[in-house]
Amino acid sequence: MSKMAKIDIDGKSYEFPYITGTENEKGIDISTLRAKTGCIAYDEGYANTGSCKSAITYIDGEKGILRYRGIPIEELAEKASFVEVAYLLIMNKLPNGTELRRFSDLLTRNEMIHEDMKVHFEGFPSTAHPMAILSAMINAAGCFYPELVHSYSEESFEIQAARLIAQVRTIAAFSYRKSRGLPIIYPKPFYRYTANFLHMMFSEPYQDYEMDPEAIRALDMIFILHADHEQNCSTSTVRMVASSHANLFASAAAGVCALWGPRHGGANQAVIEMLQNIYKSGDDGTAFMEAVKNRQEGKRLMGFGHRVYKNYDPRAKIIKQTCNDLLRNLHVDDPLLDIAQRLEDKALNDPYFIERKLYPNVDFYSGIIMRAIGIPLEMFTVIFAIGRMPGWIANYKEVREDLKGRIYRPRQIYVGSPLSEYTPIKDRN
Ligand code: CMC
Repeated sequence: MSKMAKIDIDGKSYEFPYITGTENEKGIDISTLRAKTGCIAYDEGYANTGSCKSAITYIDGEKGILRYRGIPIEELAEKASFVEVAYLLIMNKLPNGTELRRFSDLLTRNEMIHEDMKVHFEGFPSTAHPMAILSAMINAAGCFYPELVHSYSEESFEIQAARLIAQVRTIAAFSYRKSRGLPIIYPKPFYRYTANFLHMMFSEPYQDYEMDPEAIRALDMIFILHADHEQNCSTSTVRMVASSHANLFASAAAGVCALWGPRHGGANQAVIEMLQNIYKSGDDGTAFMEAVKNRQEGKRLMGFGHRVYKNYDPRAKIIKQTCNDLLRNLHVDDPLLDIAQRLEDKALNDPYFIERKLYPNVDFYSGIIMRAIGIPLEMFTVIFAIGRMPGWIANYKEVREDLKGRIYRPRQIYVGSPLSEYTPIKDRN
């Protein structure tokens, strides 16, 4: 007989099935809770709520483990390319040589956005944040594939996924060029995914950008480390939108919006802004850390803390090492790296951070790598979005292929005004 969990409410006992995942994660299936008891489960911020069963990514936050489709992130970061990882996440297997070539060709054939989309870039003010442009343009790109809006089919999904992965990079580079008043640079089919992005960002019509292989590899690795992270805020948003059967491009555009905030993907920009402010003020980090601990103006040590990791974020470990290696090899001396390392040392030895189990997360050192490559600050979260696209797509697919899946629709505990009467305007004060 399967194991049951008991809940007692008002002297009555109810039973709910235990469920376990493949890594022995435990849960209680309360899908019949309201029907049986009249109560809902209240869980602000969903910290204890499993919103789905998923076979894509596994995290053990206590042990600092992250795996895509069962493969440790450390191995993927060292051995795989971003395109391989994208295939793994979406297709649920590592591609063989033929599959990888086919998928890469599909990306190349779909990397250009429709020429008519270029006029949309003109409509944005030069002050527009690239995340706003990215979200709007992904949704706009979907309009060029009307078949998307009407149906979902497993057969056409690979091509839609390839379009999105290839075009998000083109849109991102075009929005950067536009924001700087620079001419748009088209992709070159013989460049690989990440090199092509750098080419579209930094080449000029009269001169190709000279690429450093180490910089390309570091950026490719940043994409890999960001590719998925189970039910985080933006991925949950994508799944939420997908559950209404909105199309893939619309769901991904919503994911971009959720990612933008400084508590989520926007933290990589916020970390550098924080380090720059500390640098400009001449503080060695001590005054800033005191302000954080005293919650002065709601200050937080950006790039620290995580809902799931209560140990060192495995992505941060890899990024920190890459950051040190890259800066040394490119002969870049960035004073912000010294400040970041000092803040990390202080935090890891400070009871405030120790008691709360706050460690560096993926965003703490990634910005310093991007600065060294020459990527401008306002593009950092866009880089996160390019990397996260395969994860969003894999999650979208999981939702759409679950034939028993229901629309996501949480409940609430209402705490507003009780039944009241409508007061005519003349009687209102
Ligand atoms: N600096 C100082 N204090 C912090 C920090 C921080 N970065 N993060 C959490 N705390 C404190 C918080 O004040 C609270 O203290 P207390 O219990 O005394 O009230 C305690 O730690 C728990 O924090 P929480 O806000 O309840 O934790 P959460 O799981 O809701 O939030 C988080 C997670 C990532 C939003 C938060 O740690 C944070 O704001 N970090 C800074 C922003 C950041 O780096 N975000 C990137 C996250 S990783 C990449 C991604 O997901 O995009």
